[in-house]
Amino acid sequence: MNRAKHIAIIMDGNGRWAELQDKKRVKGHEAGAKVVKEITTYCSNNDEIERLTLYAFSTENWKRPRLEVEFLMKLLDNYLKKELPVYLQNNVRFEPIGDIRAFSKSLQKTIKMVEEKTAHCDGLVQSLALNYGSQDEIIRAVNTLKSAETENITLEMLNNALDCKHDVDLLIRTGGDKRLSNFLLWQAAYAELFFIDTLWPDFTTKELEKIIKKFKKIERRFGGLK
Ligand code: IPE
Ligand code: IPE
Ligand code: MG
Repeated sequence: MNRAKHIAIIMDGNGRWAELQDKKRVKGHEAGAKVVKEITTYCSNNDEIERLTLYAFSTENWKRPRLEVEFLMKLLDNYLKKELPVYLQNNVRFEPIGDIRAFSKSLQKTIKMVEEKTAHCDGLVQSLALNYGSQDEIIRAVNTLKSAETENITLEMLNNALDCKHDVDLLIRTGGDKRLSNFLLWQAAYAELFFIDTLWPDFTTKELEKIIKKFKKIERRFGGLK
């Protein structure tokens, strides 16, 4: 049976969840943050899951109204500060991916603080994708390798130059759309994809358990034969 060592989730549908209840979109983001905590805690208690990578803010999300972007930045800052004890309690290491240099100095400081304070944790690795886009990640990796003056870039070299160096086993997108929206395009080369209609704030550990159960039974061939 397959092991879901690395689970990646496109947490989509916060805005629609709020609008359905006549609330402001930002209320959906607040509700979504609670689910991040629940799902992370669940994964940290499941021995087979080593990594959980969550898409929190894409390189394209800057196109949103300024107030929504500002709210998301504040929410992230508050979330990280508030959840630090929970990361430590659950032995979760926080490893952000994405180009956080675009964020304010104070948010960068919070991100680095939580990364440093959880660096010794050897349970689940929770990666939040922050100002992350796969294309941007690959371009930054190629530029790093270019300045290293290597002759032929190998698959291993490129892989190691990426923010996320780990193949995804199971990729889930909530919110009903069937697209990757620039998330882990390289790492998901052989991931099993699950697109579900549930909006992120309604996503539960029960639903995740069901998906993992289905994932376990899939025959993964990686181009070979049975
Ligand atoms: C995902 O929810 C969260 C972020 C992109 C930050 P959305 O905000 O995209 O919610 P919908 O898709 O508009 O419902
Ligand atoms: C993907 O959701 C990004 C995150 C979940 C952070 P979007 O809502 O930004 O994606 P599109 O615009 O529907 O492709
Ligand atoms: Mg969306």
